[in-house]
Amino acid sequence: MNKSRLIAVVGATGAQGGGLVRAIVKEPGSGLTVRALTRDPRSEKARILSQFGAEVVDADLDNVESLKRAFAGCYGAFCLTNFWEHHSPDKELAQAKAMAQAARQAGLQHVIWSTLEDTRRWVPLTDSRMPTLMGNYKVPHFDAKGQADAEFTELGLPTTLLLTSFYWDNLISFGMGPKKGPDGQLALTLPMGDKNLPGIAADDIGKCALGVFKKGPDFIGKTVGIAGEHLTGHEMAAALTKALGKTVRYNAVSFEAYRNFGFPGADDLGNMFQFKHDFNDVFCAARSLTVSRSLNPALQTFEQWLTQNKSRIPLE
Ligand SMILES: NC(=O)c1ccc[n+]([C@@H]2O[C@H](COP(=O)([O-])OP(=O)(O)OC[C@H]3O[C@@H](n4cnc5c(N)ncnc54)[C@H](OP(=O)(O)O)[C@@H]3O)[C@@H](O)[C@H]2O)c1
Repeated sequence: MNKSRLIAVVGATGAQGGGLVRAIVKEPGSGLTVRALTRDPRSEKARILSQFGAEVVDADLDNVESLKRAFAGCYGAFCLTNFWEHHSPDKELAQAKAMAQAARQAGLQHVIWSTLEDTRRWVPLTDSRMPTLMGNYKVPHFDAKGQADAEFTELGLPTTLLLTSFYWDNLISFGMGPKKGPDGQLALTLPMGDKNLPGIAADDIGKCALGVFKKGPDFIGKTVGIAGEHLTGHEMAAALTKALGKTVRYNAVSFEAYRNFGFPGADDLGNMFQFKHDFNDVFCAARSLTVSRSLNPALQTFEQWLTQNKSRIPLE
């Protein structure tokens, strides 16, 4: 008899985890079933997941016992932290540790940790090209995730480290869409110079994660990076112009200007873009489009993503 393998999904009501829940439910032949974790099973988003066919359970990353209960009986887990909810690298580290401990207790056979580079491997704190933030980080929301890789690997867990990319959905919900300048023309503002920015449809992250679980042993103990395309700011602006039917120019501001935009986390994001720019070859090479497509044959290009989502981009 075929026994299905249960996957616990952290962040199930969000972008990455939600994509994975939908991908598993839509592919019953994968041999996987899904348990969606949320702090509030009564929320509208949780109810939708339940109606969609997912088992929904209560769990909080700040409560290791709740994670142990939620991971019990599972084959694997997709693990994620949400830096932007609290802006605290220490909290991300503690939450990753709690997930790793719970995964070990549950005897999970495959854990995916949604991570990013610890940029301090390339830009030590002594490197003055970008400011040190929060006393101990260059790109706090990257560095803590990269540092937390060790929480999983040092426990000997069968882990895949999944390096994600800039969501194109940031143009809709993260305030990064084209904005009208004083000249009335729309501009896409990114401090990427003429370098390529690996990007992805957020929904494709979960589909790639499903691919990783399906290929299982091939990816355990490995790091895999995913992206839909590596595009320059000029290429993104050209695609936006075509999709929106309105001219969008690329506004390549300096890293320093971006750091000083004044919104919460602008300094973190300014440093992040500088890292992606200054170490562009390494950053892009870590996110193979071929591997991403092998994990998720339906992987979207930016143009395909725009066709589906252009009406959702606020044009201010
Ligand atoms: N935006 C980008 O371009 C980008 C690119 C790469 C990586 N990332 C990273 O992606 C992460 C966010 O992922 P996302 O975009 O999928 O998140 P999201 O859509 O903002 O949703 C956040 C998810 O995290 C869950 N969550 C947060 N705190 C929790 C806690 N204490 N206990 C249990 N669940 C908790 C929420 O669940 P409930 O509220 O239902 O409990 C929700 O499902 C961030 O750390 C960010 O650095 C973002």
